[in-house]
Amino acid sequence: GLRGAVWLVSDRQVFPHYAPALIERLHTAGYAVQGYAVPAGETSKDLTVAAQLYDWLIGNGVERRDVVLALGGGVVGDLAGFVAATVLRGVALVHLPTTLLAMVDSAIGGKTGVNHPLGKNLIGAFHQPRLVLADPATLATLPLRELCAGWAEVIKHAVIRDAGLFTHLESIADPASLSGETLAAIIRRAVRVKIDIVNADERETGERMLLNYGHTLGHAIEAACGYGDLLHGEAVAIGMHLEAQIAGRLGMVDRAFVERQARLLHIWGLSTDLPPGLSVDDLIARTLRDKKVRGGKVRWALPAGIGTATVRDDVPESLVRAVLAEA
Ligand SMILES: NC(=O)c1ccc[n+]([C@@H]2O[C@H](COP(=O)([O-])OP(=O)(O)OC[C@H]3O[C@@H](n4cnc5c(N)ncnc54)[C@H](O)[C@@H]3O)[C@@H](O)[C@H]2O)c1
Repeated sequence: GLRGAVWLVSDRQVFPHYAPALIERLHTAGYAVQGYAVPAGETSKDLTVAAQLYDWLIGNGVERRDVVLALGGGVVGDLAGFVAATVLRGVALVHLPTTLLAMVDSAIGGKTGVNHPLGKNLIGAFHQPRLVLADPATLATLPLRELCAGWAEVIKHAVIRDAGLFTHLESIADPASLSGETLAAIIRRAVRVKIDIVNADERETGERMLLNYGHTLGHAIEAACGYGDLLHGEAVAIGMHLEAQIAGRLGMVDRAFVERQARLLHIWGLSTDLPPGLSVDDLIARTLRDKKVRGGKVRWALPAGIGTATVRDDVPESLVRAVLAEA
């Protein structure tokens, strides 16, 4: 049903790999297409870059029935999605995610946005895509470190909702030699977890908060290290390990759970070690600035076993401190 002009947004690393063939095929299918590549990396999730995209779209005569096509990772998806949500009060959006993280997480669920100097993702809008099309073949050019960071979100989805996916991931001895078919099947399954949760709670008033497992401390660690040092998924893996220990101290899971999750994260190329030199006070202060804080209480998404999780706002700060101090 999308018949207007196509505005393809990508980043400078992804564009040369996939945009030329895509543009050619869209032309062949009768679409008018224009392309724009922003610099690769988190710094492009910024209002000044969004403003450049508005200039490009409005300057070239974007119309209401047109479609913005986001080709790239979570950065391009969030930025182009935000621009699509706001230009002319909203035009259609299509996501073509090219990172594992974007395929299983950021392209699904309609959250778009840019960063503010005071924090990540503080400016944004909900804008559901008309189509999300993930081609796992694009992962062939993704740097290995970026791929592994995406596995953190896949494992997170397994822990909070899909015990079968967890055991399936455990049964794979060598992730480096996955067949394309197995990879696609895992992606499909991880996507299903996110879709089900978003369908139940689009605006994050309840269940959607479960997707934040590993992210409360993960975001704190990512910010404390300075953005760009640890990848988002790498910080989330460490956050999951710490938050599993919080759940352990609350009696929600046992020691075996914590070890089992850590083993799986390691097999899929992720470290669970807290980087040295971080201050416990600083990390605690950062968790209190989390977007999910309500009435001064941090709302933690914590596992209650493999495949099940719950939100708790009664976690004593002393318990979090103890886990961090030990780590
Ligand atoms: N909207 C949401 O619900 C949501 C959820 C999770 C994360 N996010 C956001 O997603 C962003 C992170 O996304 P990301 O991890 O995809 O990072 P990214 O978009 O920065 O991509 C990582 C790097 O890989 C490159 N790249 C992407 N695809 C490639 C490919 N196929 N071949 C070669 N290189 C490729 C990119 O140019 C970039 O340098 C963060 O800003 C985060 O806040 C949003």
